Amino acid sequence: MQINGKQYRSVWFEQGRLIMIDQNKIPYEFGLKEYSTYLEVAAAIREMTVRGAPAIGAAGAFGMALAALAAPDQKFRAYLRSARDELISTRPTAVDLSIGVQYVYESALKFIPDLPHARQVAVLAANEFANKSADDCLKLGRIGAELIQDGARILTHCNAGALATVDHGTALSVIREAHKLGKNIFVYVDETRPRFQGARLTAFELEQEGIPHAIITDSAAGFYFWKEQIDLVITGADRICLNGDIANKIGTYEKAVLAHVHEVPFYVAAPDSTFDLACAKGKDIPIEIRDEDEIKRINGSYLANPGSPALNPAFDITPAKYITGIITPKGVFTPQEAAQRMQS
Ligand code: MRU
Repeated sequence: MQINGKQYRSVWFEQGRLIMIDQNKIPYEFGLKEYSTYLEVAAAIREMTVRGAPAIGAAGAFGMALAALAAPDQKFRAYLRSARDELISTRPTAVDLSIGVQYVYESALKFIPDLPHARQVAVLAANEFANKSADDCLKLGRIGAELIQDGARILTHCNAGALATVDHGTALSVIREAHKLGKNIFVYVDETRPRFQGARLTAFELEQEGIPHAIITDSAAGFYFWKEQIDLVITGADRICLNGDIANKIGTYEKAVLAHVHEVPFYVAAPDSTFDLACAKGKDIPIEIRDEDEIKRINGSYLANPGSPALNPAFDITPAKYITGIITPKGVFTPQEAAQRMQS
């Protein structure tokens, strides 16, 4: 992705350290953070310094690589097992995290008892996972761009951009590639309460690349559907089940229902690592519940009645019946057919 005229990935490994863009600071500041232990990486995922399903998948994979580099010889297997469990426990909904962590864990274990080799393989496997994730996102962006008509007005929710992935994005990869093809597009950016990933991160990415857009409050989408000013919706996903149900940022479901009522296509864009072939249906997806303070306070100051409790589910489920198509690196499929096609 381009930031201030320079190319970045959101997450990468360099000289035995993990480097990540600090997503909690954007757009007010741009800074990088460095990590040399898996526990630091786990804390960064919890605090959402890195967030977005494919980005936390790659961060988790590199966290496992750091664990393999640090694991004592006598306790190699047990150390890796606790690192794996700790990293996976940080955020429950995005399946990319457990897929990335498990991939590096299993790759390293295959080379026991040759521990120097196992450590090297862990780093190689994490890089391979991250590179594939970035390639998948570019591929799906190029495929999805064909769906976008010149003049399209697109609604997106949360940040499904390069920041949420290793690079390129999911929904925003489609939007970027359509823009690169010279299509004249306009993007409505849901602000995405309570952490404002849309207003802060998606708006930042679109501005950096000169893509026309405007931020709207989460509750304004219905108004623009009613005015017939939205031609399609594209979001990312945190987990896609066998029956085509998906989990994504809280508020996605209501946008899908609105799109259905207004007969507007609703697309989900996702790389291979977002498919959970062990998950039969949306009801099986664990939903992360975050701290009520995210709703009640901003920068430490209350904006809600301090004495009232608040409920803060971070994701919701959009049933397959409201999804027009899933844009994947292998093509665009109906939600019912997408998971099967990802296995072939
Ligand atoms: O809580 P977040 O910011 O990690 O949630 C991110 C989303 O919901 C994205 O839409 C999703 O990860 C898919 S984007 C690549």
